[in-house]
Amino acid sequence: MKEELNKIIKSAQNDIGQAGSLHDLMQLKSRYTGKKSILNSFMQKIGTLPVAERPAFGQTVNQAKAQLAELLAQREIEIKEKEYESNLKSQVIDLTMPGRKSESGSLHPITKVWRGIEDIFISLGFDVAEGPDVEDEFHNFDALNTPADHPARNLSDTFYLEDDVLLRTQTSTVQVRVMENHQPPIKIISPGSCYRNENDASHSPMFHQVEALVVDEGVTFADLRDMLNIFVKKMFGEDIESRFRPHFFPFTEPSAEIDIICVKCHGKGCNLCKGSGWLELGGAGMVDPNVFDMLGIDSEKYTGYAFGLGMDRVAMLKYKIPDMRLLFENDVRFLKQFK
Ligand code: DAH
Repeated sequence: MKEELNKIIKSAQNDIGQAGSLHDLMQLKSRYTGKKSILNSFMQKIGTLPVAERPAFGQTVNQAKAQLAELLAQREIEIKEKEYESNLKSQVIDLTMPGRKSESGSLHPITKVWRGIEDIFISLGFDVAEGPDVEDEFHNFDALNTPADHPARNLSDTFYLEDDVLLRTQTSTVQVRVMENHQPPIKIISPGSCYRNENDASHSPMFHQVEALVVDEGVTFADLRDMLNIFVKKMFGEDIESRFRPHFFPFTEPSAEIDIICVKCHGKGCNLCKGSGWLELGGAGMVDPNVFDMLGIDSEKYTGYAFGLGMDRVAMLKYKIPDMRLLFENDVRFLKQFK
């Protein structure tokens, strides 16, 4: 039996030395030293030996087991080291390879225009004011001298969320909020989103306006005209003229619409300006004394001007964008052009 045992130990040593993977090693482990292993079967045969030989044989088997366990553990370390090294070799990092390019984004044309407009008016001494997109009728209509039967209040233009809760249709609401809380001198602009139930190539249900309000003693229509002229030239270029056309707004008197000379044809007439040579930019006027009275500002002492410009229109004119809907479709091919 001893000879048999020696043979098995030899073949085990041989097998373990040749095991090439951890998986092979696991199998050898259970074959030689596990519960149902060959060595254990020797232990069971111990009863067939003469009593005197049993202890010595038992010891021999146990020693053999320990020896094999040690060999297995050593081989395991060797195999793991080999695997680690071959992994290192196969996963070589080539530091000379060019990196993967990550594309940088760009600002949306409206964001660019928004920031540009803020920069211009801040440099002209204006503060930037803000108001909520969700408004009530007082701030959007009543305080702006817009009577209850005015067509703009109609559901077909204004998005009502509930009775007396609506999405503001104009940033003129911020005029009201500023005058409610401040006495003149006031000199603010307020850029922001507005909402109306309209949707075509030159109207979007969500759009952007910048409102301006200047109130002080002795503010005149000439100041308004001058300020808009300065703005237009800073925004579109020194050669771009502007003009006022008489108009009506409930909250200004007198009121005007502001046009600039066509940025494409410079007044000759083209498809952008539909042959007129002029492009419409927004509305303006002298604050109606009724508005002052409603908001607790002394209309005998103060005068003021206000204007509201479409920022999407400014972006369309500045970047020659033919359809307003392009601004809100988030098509990467379109947006990429503004890098
Ligand atoms: N809020 C007006 C609109 O959405 C634009 C406007 C006109 C604003 C005249 C003004 C103004 O401040 O004085 O059509």
